[in-house]
Amino acid sequence: MVVTRAVLVGCGGISRAWFKAAQEMEGLSFVGLVDINRAAAEEKAAEFGLKDAVLDTDLGRVLQSTQPDVVFNCTIPDAHMPVTLEALEHGCHVLGEKPLADSMENAYKMIEAARKANRIFAVIQNRRYNANIRRLRAFLESGVIGRITTVNSDFYLGAHFGGFRDRMEHVLLLDMAIHSFDQARLISGTDPVSVYAKEWNPAGSWYDHDASAVALFQMTDGVVYTYRGSWCAEGLNTTWECDWRIVGDKGTVTWDGAEGFKCQVVAKSGGFRSEWADVPVAESDPGDKVGGHAGVMRDFLRAVRTGGTPETVCTDNVKSLAMVFGAIRSAQTGREEKTG
Ligand SMILES: NC(=O)c1ccc[n+]([C@@H]2O[C@H](COP(=O)([O-])OP(=O)(O)OC[C@H]3O[C@@H](n4cnc5c(N)ncnc54)[C@H](O)[C@@H]3O)[C@@H](O)[C@H]2O)c1
Repeated sequence: MVVTRAVLVGCGGISRAWFKAAQEMEGLSFVGLVDINRAAAEEKAAEFGLKDAVLDTDLGRVLQSTQPDVVFNCTIPDAHMPVTLEALEHGCHVLGEKPLADSMENAYKMIEAARKANRIFAVIQNRRYNANIRRLRAFLESGVIGRITTVNSDFYLGAHFGGFRDRMEHVLLLDMAIHSFDQARLISGTDPVSVYAKEWNPAGSWYDHDASAVALFQMTDGVVYTYRGSWCAEGLNTTWECDWRIVGDKGTVTWDGAEGFKCQVVAKSGGFRSEWADVPVAESDPGDKVGGHAGVMRDFLRAVRTGGTPETVCTDNVKSLAMVFGAIRSAQTGREEKTG
């Protein structure tokens, strides 16, 4: 098998998920680890037994000396653009951590650079690679609840991170809601058109900035998606995947983000309320769209090796990013904003 040579940049907390996922992948070799804090690269090299990888604080030097095929970008959002541009200029394919970019302007620069370089640039959107969300999507595609009209999601967690997130602006929308918004696109099979949103920091918050938000999206095909979320909610927490309700013109399905599915469809109409029948949400074969980080990495490596387009390619993923920045803009202007 041809070995794909990888350099990973940004050896912080999330890089562990990448190194762990890589352990179960054939034909992937880490030839370099880069971090502006050399100790972080040394720590991960030791922890994952990467004895042959070059360790450095300078990406350019490592690209020159190792000539990798791919660069994995696990840096903080501010560094996503410079690292990705440098890797693309060097002829590497790039898989980066979410969010794609720290602004829409920078996102478009990165997309254009990937196009010019004729290289793949994709984003880790690991919450898509989950057997239960695939089961929900397959069930909706089967048409049991009819045409989707409305999607609601709730995200309520009391998350005491104690790190950079406690000081970060738009912490919920930027750092977390990108996952939920991307999930909404997958679940509904629609894309955003416009958004009206409000952000606030609830009384008693342990965050410096807004840790709660509500957003109302107009999606394509007439679908309306509402999001309610907080990272500052004690008690009765939802899952990290959100609590979902999808309404169609023949019925409703709910998903608790874990194993809990419920569905009712119209069995007899004509009265004030229809009569409804419970319908099991059939299990489905998710194929290899599972495994979180491992699933996204597999999709990306397959495209690099054999052609094709990974599901989270930048030109698609930017639509999820547009939901985040549209919601932030709307919260700032107090008006409905376009999301594309
Ligand atoms: N997909 C997920 O579920 C998930 C979960 C957590 C974090 N993330 C994302 O992963 C990214 C990193 O988050 P983290 O929690 O690992 O942060 P972190 O602060 O723990 O690690 C970031 C690392 O990048 C290094 N770094 C920063 N700028 C750099 C540069 N220009 N060149 C080289 N190294 C640089 C830092 O020194 C640090 O070691 C963020 O974009 C975050 O949103 C994703």
